[in-house]
Amino acid sequence: MSIQLTESAHGSGGEQAATSHLLVPGELDLSHQVILYLDGISVSFDGFKALDDLTLAIDAGELRCIIGPNGAGKTTMMDVITGKTRPDAGTAFFGQTLDLTRLTEAEIAHAGIGRKFQKPTIFESHSVFENLELAMKTDKRVRRSLFSVIDDQTKDRISDTLRLIRLAADADRAAGALSHGQKQWLEIGMLLMQEPKLLLLDEPVAGMTDEETERTGELFLSLAGKHSLVVVEHDMAFIEQLGGKVTVLHEGSVLAEDNLATVQADPRVIEVYLGR
Ligand SMILES: Nc1ncnc2c1ncn2[C@@H]1O[C@H](COP(=O)(O)OP(=O)(O)OP(=O)(O)O)[C@@H](O)[C@H]1O
Ligand SMILES: [Mg+2]
Repeated sequence: MSIQLTESAHGSGGEQAATSHLLVPGELDLSHQVILYLDGISVSFDGFKALDDLTLAIDAGELRCIIGPNGAGKTTMMDVITGKTRPDAGTAFFGQTLDLTRLTEAEIAHAGIGRKFQKPTIFESHSVFENLELAMKTDKRVRRSLFSVIDDQTKDRISDTLRLIRLAADADRAAGALSHGQKQWLEIGMLLMQEPKLLLLDEPVAGMTDEETERTGELFLSLAGKHSLVVVEHDMAFIEQLGGKVTVLHEGSVLAEDNLATVQADPRVIEVYLGR
């Protein structure tokens, strides 16, 4: 134990503080207010075009909702943004200068794009607090463990995140004991610990109760501005609560883009949804 304490004393020193923000400030160029710009993206799977000349721009701090029928290409779009899938054509820029199609998945995450998958990847046997601690960006040269003493700044960040995701009262509970909705919030909290600039959330309220869904909406609204969010959802009440611009995807490209009421009244959008 004494060895671990010694290590943690080292780990909480100035050296770690200086290297914990891994993205060099200014590296993400937001001079044109656009954080993500997809231009003419196409992705084919055995000749089938999952994305077809997709062009989309997300502003810095924006909360954008993406809707569209099953198979429209929503998840594939997130796969392209995160580097999991390489497009056959088109460019994808993060800020003005980072070409996502040339970066690895790890580099993209490191640059500040966080993605939430539907199945939470939390550590069930660890406490909620420990999960957030483990999710932090850390200096890999300093070996950390759950037994190390964390500095006050880190504790404050974890406490702030716990409040934000409404799990302050559950900090010491095992993550595995949380409800489905709470596990999703913890997963979002773990993403936030990595200080992402852009958050991609694919069907974040699937399986949540109505109350959990509404609280998730409040959380996303509180994150917008500081972060940019791209939310894919089928739950229209949730989209309405979020209230931002809505992009309708259909057959791999943008069919309509406006506020929810306007796209819902668009005959082409109605046809796509009714024609399923
Ligand atoms: N790895 C893959 N190989 C082959 N086809 C794929 C692959 N990934 C996606 N597709 C196909 O691409 C199309 C778009 O799929 P995608 O998962 O992006 O749709 P989605 O809009 O997310 O749908 P949903 O609302 O059902 O989640 C679908 O027809 C799907 O079957
Ligand atoms: Mg999908």
